[in-house]
Amino acid sequence: MSNFDSVFQSSVQNREAFWAEAAKGITWYKQYDKVLDSSNPPFYRWFVGGKMNTCYNAVDRHVENGRADQTAIIYDSPVTNTIAKITYKELQERVALFAGALQSQGVTKGDTVVIYMPMIPEAAVAMLACARLGAIHSVVFGGFAAHELAIRIDHAQPKLIITASGAIEGKKVLAYKPLVDSAIDQSVHEVKKVILFQRDIIKSEMKEGRDFDWNELVAASKPVGCVELDATDPLYILYTSGTTGMPKGVLRDNGGHAVALLWTMKNLYNINPGEVWWSASDVGWVVGHSYIVYAPLIQGSTTILYEGKPIGTPDAGAFWRVISQHGVKSLFTAPTAFRAIKKEDPNGEYFKKYDTSCFECLYLAGERLDPDTLHWAEKLIGVPVIDHWWQTETGWAIVGNCRGIEELPVKEGSPTKALPGYDVHIVNEEGTELAAGQEGNIVIRLPLPPGNLVTLWRNDERFVKSYMTKFPGYYDTSDGGYIDQDGYVYVMGRMDDVINVAGHRLSTGAMEEIISNHPDVAECAVFGTHDDLKGQLPLGLFVVKAGVTRSSDEIKEELVRMVRDAIGPIACFRDATQVARLPKTRSGKILRGTMRAIAGGKDYNMPSTIDDPAILDEITATLAKMGYPKR
Ligand code: COA
Ligand code: AMP
Repeated sequence: MSNFDSVFQSSVQNREAFWAEAAKGITWYKQYDKVLDSSNPPFYRWFVGGKMNTCYNAVDRHVENGRADQTAIIYDSPVTNTIAKITYKELQERVALFAGALQSQGVTKGDTVVIYMPMIPEAAVAMLACARLGAIHSVVFGGFAAHELAIRIDHAQPKLIITASGAIEGKKVLAYKPLVDSAIDQSVHEVKKVILFQRDIIKSEMKEGRDFDWNELVAASKPVGCVELDATDPLYILYTSGTTGMPKGVLRDNGGHAVALLWTMKNLYNINPGEVWWSASDVGWVVGHSYIVYAPLIQGSTTILYEGKPIGTPDAGAFWRVISQHGVKSLFTAPTAFRAIKKEDPNGEYFKKYDTSCFECLYLAGERLDPDTLHWAEKLIGVPVIDHWWQTETGWAIVGNCRGIEELPVKEGSPTKALPGYDVHIVNEEGTELAAGQEGNIVIRLPLPPGNLVTLWRNDERFVKSYMTKFPGYYDTSDGGYIDQDGYVYVMGRMDDVINVAGHRLSTGAMEEIISNHPDVAECAVFGTHDDLKGQLPLGLFVVKAGVTRSSDEIKEELVRMVRDAIGPIACFRDATQVARLPKTRSGKILRGTMRAIAGGKDYNMPSTIDDPAILDEITATLAKMGYPKR
């Protein structure tokens, strides 16, 4: 048995001993009583009875243990021409003072706080300050529009919102504050306070009595210490797209999260304390939560917070510049970012300009890694390119290549093997286990390892229904795929209406809900189609109400605008067309999967329950006119 395989076996056979060993890396105020409480499945609880604080583990303990002057965060912002280094000591001061500011505004343990910020150090400071107090943060990605922010405000019911005046996205200056104001107007929950960080690039108006200036609050604040929390107390809520317009509020606890993330830094990513790590994502996504903020800081390494893009800020050499300038050992990003670099600089001319000898490994996740991008990146940079598969729900990788334990050979199309703690199986629709090589639903036998979602915020019922009901005793990942003879897992894509656009998870159901509000639209379907750069893009088909005679192009433009205004520009909803009717089953269910197959040029079986097979010919002809399948 290989070294990795034996570690894996011990993690599933002696689950509690395995994670108890990992938990030694965390500083506990009080040792836990029980590693795993399985008394109320599927609500498993890790490190029950343990007392700790995530912010203490990510910041204060490093100041106390000799890392005070080590750089904790490198803020690299080509869009504002700024590079700033923040030591652990400085980070402690900033977080403790901002926690004091939050406390002065009445924030206390168990309160929720929404954070809507661009990629600036204050975003990380705000998250850590909440963790310090035991307040539950919910960071909302800045690319979401006011309507999406309002949905999250109504569900999370925050005591206050922390935001910034704006961001620079590529070359555009975007105002954030008007979006926050509009979201507050749209939400039913009354937001009584907003803390605003005014940036030099753009200033916002303040609403008297409701809005407070970040700097003024901090100037008047006194530093506060870390609150002793239960390991099982919630750390954050992160909303992620489900199949409807109502996102799922993934809830993460403190203890299990800290233990699992710390374990991954060395074992999965082969990063040691003091080394420079870069996750080029955004704090609004799970990758940003786990690998820009919490994991590298809990470990005592140096994390890069990059406010820029892979291309255009200023060019396709941006990633190589950052790696070379800051001595980055490993980078984690989405395949889309590399496809963008490849498109702009196919021969790697920019790469040649920089000394990247410090660079050891590239990690990719968030969407399927296509073989072209894998091989292009391998050839160009000459270091391992490691795919790994995970979800917002899991908080860290389910399948990957644990280079800190043993680097396994890379097989094209596979993110390698199930990670320790994850007992991954493939089952058919009836829940029967499938043989090696057979494609089906990817499921994980319960309990999930620490760091995974503990429930959905204020919705235990949806948690059980979405993940734990279809295959009793297992977590349903909603991804399909297979496992080969060697135990390599292949992830083929979502089995539901969730799509991945440029590594951003979006719900086609949410887009349909918006489109169907158009006064001329009778019904519609949105599904994902292949895109060479962004992996997937949404495509909409709509049927107009009887008697509507307006031009379909005009209606399409209005639908595109509606989705952009409601969900945000990141939805990238640009393609839609009118059709006479949509294919349905006899019971009225729209056959989105079949249309997806037609648009993707894939074979499909004629659904036995189809109402009128001739509609598929009409759809095929319409899609062909639009240029589908694209390849
Ligand atoms: N705030 C506001 N708007 C944002 C935003 C943010 N944080 N992020 C993206 N947007 C906007 C963009 O400006 C763009 O708007 P536009 O339609 O007005 O041009 C739109 O959302 C789409 O953005 P994006 O999908 O990022 O496309 P792009 O063409 O600007 O950039 C890439 C393409 C490939 C460079 C970019 O998608 C990228 O860097 N992808 C990597 C993604 C990633 O790291 N994901 C993390 C998961 S691991
Ligand atoms: P998110 O919750 O935003 O991280 O998106 C999770 C989804 O992205 C998964 O359910 C997969 O469909 C997809 N995904 C993430 N990583 C990979 C990967 N390495 N390979 C294939 N799909 C991936």
